[in-house]
Amino acid sequence: MVRTASIATLRSADAGAQPRSATQAARIRLNLRRLRLASGLVLFGYVLTHLLNHALGNISLDAMEDGLDVVTAVWLNPVGLTLLYGALVLHLLLGLQALYAARFFHWRPSEALQLVSGLLIPTLLISHITATRISFVTEGLDKGYAQELYAFWIASPTLGLLQVTVLVLAWIHGCMGLYFWLRLKPAFGRMAPWLLALAVLVPVLSLLGFAQGGRMILTLAQDPAWRAVALQPVHVGLPDQVARLAAIRDGLLGTYAGLVAAVVAARGVRTLAEVKRGTIRLSYPDGRVVRVPRGTSVLEASRRNRIPHASVCGGRGRCSTCRIRVTDGSDGAPSPGRTERSVLERIAAGPGVRLACQFRPETDMAVVPLLPPQPRMRQADLLDRAQSGEERFIVAMFVDLRGSTRLAEERLPYDTVFIINRFLGAVGDAVREAGGSTNQFLGDGLLALFGLETEPGQAAQDALRAIDLIADAVDTLNRLLAADLEHTLRYGIGVHAGLAIVGEMGDATDARFTALGDTVNVAARLQGLTKTLGCVAVVSEAVYQAARVAPAQIRDVAVDGRSEAVRVNTLGRL
Ligand code: HEM
Ligand code: FES
Repeated sequence: MVRTASIATLRSADAGAQPRSATQAARIRLNLRRLRLASGLVLFGYVLTHLLNHALGNISLDAMEDGLDVVTAVWLNPVGLTLLYGALVLHLLLGLQALYAARFFHWRPSEALQLVSGLLIPTLLISHITATRISFVTEGLDKGYAQELYAFWIASPTLGLLQVTVLVLAWIHGCMGLYFWLRLKPAFGRMAPWLLALAVLVPVLSLLGFAQGGRMILTLAQDPAWRAVALQPVHVGLPDQVARLAAIRDGLLGTYAGLVAAVVAARGVRTLAEVKRGTIRLSYPDGRVVRVPRGTSVLEASRRNRIPHASVCGGRGRCSTCRIRVTDGSDGAPSPGRTERSVLERIAAGPGVRLACQFRPETDMAVVPLLPPQPRMRQADLLDRAQSGEERFIVAMFVDLRGSTRLAEERLPYDTVFIINRFLGAVGDAVREAGGSTNQFLGDGLLALFGLETEPGQAAQDALRAIDLIADAVDTLNRLLAADLEHTLRYGIGVHAGLAIVGEMGDATDARFTALGDTVNVAARLQGLTKTLGCVAVVSEAVYQAARVAPAQIRDVAVDGRSEAVRVNTLGRL
């Protein structure tokens, strides 16, 4: 039998400071993200004007130099310079901080590319900045496109190649940063095609301008008179000036390499400290056992191991959706801190319930996440559609747990919630596995939608597959809970397909993405009919037609609120 800690025993020791500091850490992370975005935007602004300046090479070298005057006027005044170089230093330091904080196990490739490109840019940029800004400040050298293009195309083509690399890298890095930020904005869907066009056009025009400028320089450089003027010491420096600048460049490169090495070393020290503190094992209900450093929050453990775990507030201890029940090993559990305790009290949490984002186990234990992972309803690609509301072909599925009233009479309220959550979790997983999304949890049932991102045929096939997957999932759950349940869990499913309005419904403070209309209502009614028809699922003919599958049998049923009968197939016997 599983041991269950009561909230009273968990509370017996004094509240630790850890959970509160976890909230603070989350706030600090948010502020760092804002700073990174702000400094990144300044740098992006500079790179954009800079690349547009290169694009003027498609007109002429003079146009490039004239453009440079404008860019210089905008950026190279005291305010612009402070902003630009302040942002550069800040962004770089935040990049190093990100390198330290990164836990690579739950990284998406795009995030890794963002960090790696960000860390590479300074190595390539240092020689460029030394040759331009620093040479002006320390040696008074006055460089323009003529000198830089000469350096890149004639004096050192390798340097030119590196410059092109940094240009492309910096642009990709900046665009990805912008994308991560903008994709969550409501208007992103509308703006995306234009932004993509700009994201491709700007560097292409810039590189073409750079190439055209290079060609012009190659011709001009044939002329000794041009060389005598363009390459005079006031522009390119005397050998000792060049040597001093090279030393500065090497010093900067060495400093940067040292900083990166220090961060890598700090990561090593942290890992050693974690190993020294030891690891613990956490077991999840599906039988998975994960090993994490002692003191890691359960939510972090789930994330590191890619175990889907609801966390609507992002781990800030505000929403309670990450809550878990500790089913085994709670004896040595640190007691809840103030943040966690107040949330647990507010939701009248039962024995052994903790917030996964705040709870940092020190010993092995078994945990059960109590809410299904977040429905994917706020996906960026759905957002634009969601704002306006759209008529769309969908397949709506209602799944309802039978006999939950009896369940509530026979068991403690907490156990009822636990069982219902396990049921909803199992059904939700099955729906998602089939390709649908859980849209609303309605007491002891849920509404699943298929076809928000897929074509009608696929949506209907997915929904039919979900019926089988739900049956398997509930079977497994029944076996798992056999010792605890007097009656096996039974349920009803209603599925209908057709047009519905999908969109964000609600007021300004509480709106949710959902579907409305006759299709959804009929699906709900069909679910209700499973009781009278004595079956597990009632699926309308429209679903089979969309899936291009022939049902085993078809019958007419009367549905409340509709004058015409609905043609349906019934599945399974209760
Ligand atoms: C083919 C590529 C590039 C060419 C031909 C080029 C050319 C130039 C030129 C002519 C200047 C001198 C401006 C001045 O001192 O008045 C300059 C400065 C600069 N460039 Fe570039 N650039 C290229 C790519 C990049 C990229 C990709 C970045 C950025 C991420 C970048 C960042 C800078 C910075 C920070 C400065 C110093 C601005 C200052 O003087 O304070 N450049 N570049
Ligand atoms: S994720 Fe919101 S309280 Fe834990």
